[in-house]
Amino acid sequence: MLSKYHWWRDAVIYQVYVRSFLDSTGDGIGDLAGVRAGLPYLKKLGVDGIWLSPFYPSPQHDHGYDVADYRDVDPVFGDLDEFDQLMAAARRLGIKVLLDIVPNHCSSEHPWFREALDSPPGSPARARFHFAAGRGPDGSEPPNNWHAMFGGPAWTRVADGQWYLHMFTPEQPDWNWRNPEIADEFERTLRFWLDRGVDGFRIDVAAGLFKHPDLPDSDDPEADARTRDSVNPLAWNQPEVHDVWRRWRAICEEYGDRDGRERLLVGEVSVPTAREHALYVRPDELHQAFFFDLLGAPWDADAFRKVIAEAMQDIAGTGSTVTWVLNNHDQVRTVTRYGEPATEGSGLGAARARAAALLMLALPGAAYIYQGEELGLPEVVDLPDDVLTDPIFRRTGSRARIRDGCRVPLPWSGQASPFGFTSGAEGAKPWLPQPEYFAEYATDRALADTRSFWHLYRDGLQLRKSLPQLGEGPLEWLDSPPGVLAFTRGDGLVCAVNFGTANAPTPVPGTPLLSSGPCPPGVLPGATAAWWLNDL
Ligand code: GLC
Repeated sequence: MLSKYHWWRDAVIYQVYVRSFLDSTGDGIGDLAGVRAGLPYLKKLGVDGIWLSPFYPSPQHDHGYDVADYRDVDPVFGDLDEFDQLMAAARRLGIKVLLDIVPNHCSSEHPWFREALDSPPGSPARARFHFAAGRGPDGSEPPNNWHAMFGGPAWTRVADGQWYLHMFTPEQPDWNWRNPEIADEFERTLRFWLDRGVDGFRIDVAAGLFKHPDLPDSDDPEADARTRDSVNPLAWNQPEVHDVWRRWRAICEEYGDRDGRERLLVGEVSVPTAREHALYVRPDELHQAFFFDLLGAPWDADAFRKVIAEAMQDIAGTGSTVTWVLNNHDQVRTVTRYGEPATEGSGLGAARARAAALLMLALPGAAYIYQGEELGLPEVVDLPDDVLTDPIFRRTGSRARIRDGCRVPLPWSGQASPFGFTSGAEGAKPWLPQPEYFAEYATDRALADTRSFWHLYRDGLQLRKSLPQLGEGPLEWLDSPPGVLAFTRGDGLVCAVNFGTANAPTPVPGTPLLSSGPCPPGVLPGATAAWWLNDL
């Protein structure tokens, strides 16, 4: 029987971007053995679990989000035996492990896609994907006007004249989920990893999967691909997708009923409104879906208050909890984002990022931390064009939304690159160059300095474990001056954040339990957050 305690409801999960975490082989690319070596560090930080970015065999056109084999490990990252060792080590340390599963699309190297290319139009092999005839007299126009998320049309033509659909890059053909073979194949994949002991899955593009059955033209194809929130309503968020999540939930429940370990499904759900978002986390669907509006909010008290209130209101009654996130492998890091227009990675952006962290950790629900966030790493904004690997850059030529800057390998120790990231032979270079200033952020320095980001996160996580007011539970707003947010959690924990630059009075007297920066008595300085236990 499942225990009554649902660990995921207020868990803190650390996102490991495997290729940039720690390299055990010296090829300059992080790997599963590196993750295993880093587990004690994560245990010390105090997270409940990790989410591993995709490590499956893949030609890496989108760093593993183009999966060629869903049930194996890419040799670059290790092998299944190493995966099992990682699972065993995580289990010993009490750290849960979530995998990243990519059901919307696969790699053009996947055997089923290769088979489709080798098969004639109309064949069962092609019916696993979206193949269609083109338009125009010779079929030389794509079947519809949809744009791909990473630039260019969403269709590519093959040798016999048909076209196939890919909502991301041409190397990522979309599965046709209207074909029951696909659902069955994914069930086999889920069971494969569940049998190896995983605690759940982060689901990539979880609002995707089904397309409008007629694949009609979009009214505004350019808008559809511009941002994550203006996704194509004909290619995303179709009602049938909810049946998939019901089936996956039932599979997770089956495993939980068998061994008492509750599994978690957390979806990357990009839909226009919080209300639509809530549909994905109904009691028999996903346990959780990332709530990206906090990540998207500008550094502004009213904006933060609005998204926090909306999230809690819309999730109420679904049985889920809010899944807060400030950083991930697709977004500019908070230190830089909040510092704009910025000079360096310290100063205002860093102070705000620290305050935001304390705010996030005080909110009801679960929190996700992206590797390096606990070090206060800034975005690397000056990577030269020739090292950029993000397909967005390759396909659009624009640096506007590129994601390499938040994926630079972590600094662990020392004064010069590779900063302990790669333990390999002399000359081994991290797959993306690390700037010199990463020396200041190395984990050994962070651990030794009690004023570091690392200590703030560690202390916050410890208090979440020891104080019953934190984690799940009620939140009540307190009156506060303009530019300040203040709320109580449960019985007596107060959190306040000053979004302004001038000092504000503290909402309660006394010394804070924890603060993101120095707090003289009675004063909450600008760009600072603090927690108090208020026993008045
Ligand atoms: C998700 C991932 C992103 C990936 C995309 C396509 O948004 O977070 O990294 O490129 O899906 O799989």
